[in-house]
Amino acid sequence: MDDLAQLESRLVERIGAAADLAALEAVRVEALGKKGLVTQLMKTLGALAPDERRAAGQALNQIKDALAGAIEARKDALLEAELEARLAEERIDVSLPARPAPLGRLHPIGHTIEELVAIFGEMGFSVVDGPHIEDDFHNFTALNIPPDHPARQEHDTFYLPADETAGEVAAAGRNRERRVLRTHTSPVQIRSMQAGQPPFRIIVPGRTFRADHDATHSPMFHQVEGLVVDRTTHMGHLKGTLTAFCRAFFGVEDLPLRFRPSYFPFTEPSAEVDIGCSRQGDQLVIGAGSDWLEILGCGMVHPKVLANCGIDPNEFQGYAFGMGIERIAMLKYGMPDLRPFFDSDIRWLRHYGFLPFEMPSMVRGL
Ligand code: DAH
Repeated sequence: MDDLAQLESRLVERIGAAADLAALEAVRVEALGKKGLVTQLMKTLGALAPDERRAAGQALNQIKDALAGAIEARKDALLEAELEARLAEERIDVSLPARPAPLGRLHPIGHTIEELVAIFGEMGFSVVDGPHIEDDFHNFTALNIPPDHPARQEHDTFYLPADETAGEVAAAGRNRERRVLRTHTSPVQIRSMQAGQPPFRIIVPGRTFRADHDATHSPMFHQVEGLVVDRTTHMGHLKGTLTAFCRAFFGVEDLPLRFRPSYFPFTEPSAEVDIGCSRQGDQLVIGAGSDWLEILGCGMVHPKVLANCGIDPNEFQGYAFGMGIERIAMLKYGMPDLRPFFDSDIRWLRHYGFLPFEMPSMVRGL
């Protein structure tokens, strides 16, 4: 019996020490398999006298049960440990910040447009767009720029080939249907006023085209137009709106604005707006300073423009403004050159682009 007790404790110890399921199975076969130690002992029972046989049989059965129990317990422990190890290995820390690199970047133009929409949206403006291919009437004539007006020359217009099937005559400089790539977003003022009834309160961010290409001009660029028309709209509203916009956009609470008298055919009076800045070495700092920087054109909508759209200028008046989106983005984000905006250079985009999570909103800040 001592031998049996020794055998049991030796096997139990080895079961407890089995490092993995394969080692455990090896011990099980060695003890309880067909040719296992305990199985062999069982086979010797037949040779014993009946009394001895019962006692020995009971003892062996106890050992068998004890070993089976020990194997089961060890198996559970090993499976549990294996699961723990896998969970630890595959652990995902959901509180870690997402890896931004594979997401790509938003182009600064798109991001700047989102900023414009957030600021003007907060002030009750809605966003409108219009066609890139315009006709002469909407791009010029309706905006009080008649065919012989000198302002036309400044626009470096891309004219589309005359479409004879549409009744255009090739030499028809005066043809109101002559198609152009829009040179500014202002024709959307006309389209919006023709399509609806005042009051209007819209912004129009979008592409514009001029045959001009150098360090500060691109043949395709972006503008944002603004138009407000109502019965009592006046110049004070224009100044208040643009002041609030510039301060929010550039993030400078006391940013000074200067409204300088100017001329646009479609506004009367007209003004150009400068913001305060200072130059420190070759660095430009936006905010109250000794210098000024021109950023946009604006004015009170010319009565003729209202009339061209079927709006009675004796009942309604409005203001309008227009600015270059590349220009304000370059000023805000310190971009020295216009050309890379349209080069699709991934290094430039990585540097100046924005993460998709950084959607501008007035609540969260720009
Ligand atoms: N359309 C003008 C341009 O492209 C910009 C502009 C100036 C728009 C004054 C306006 C405005 O609405 O009132 O140069």
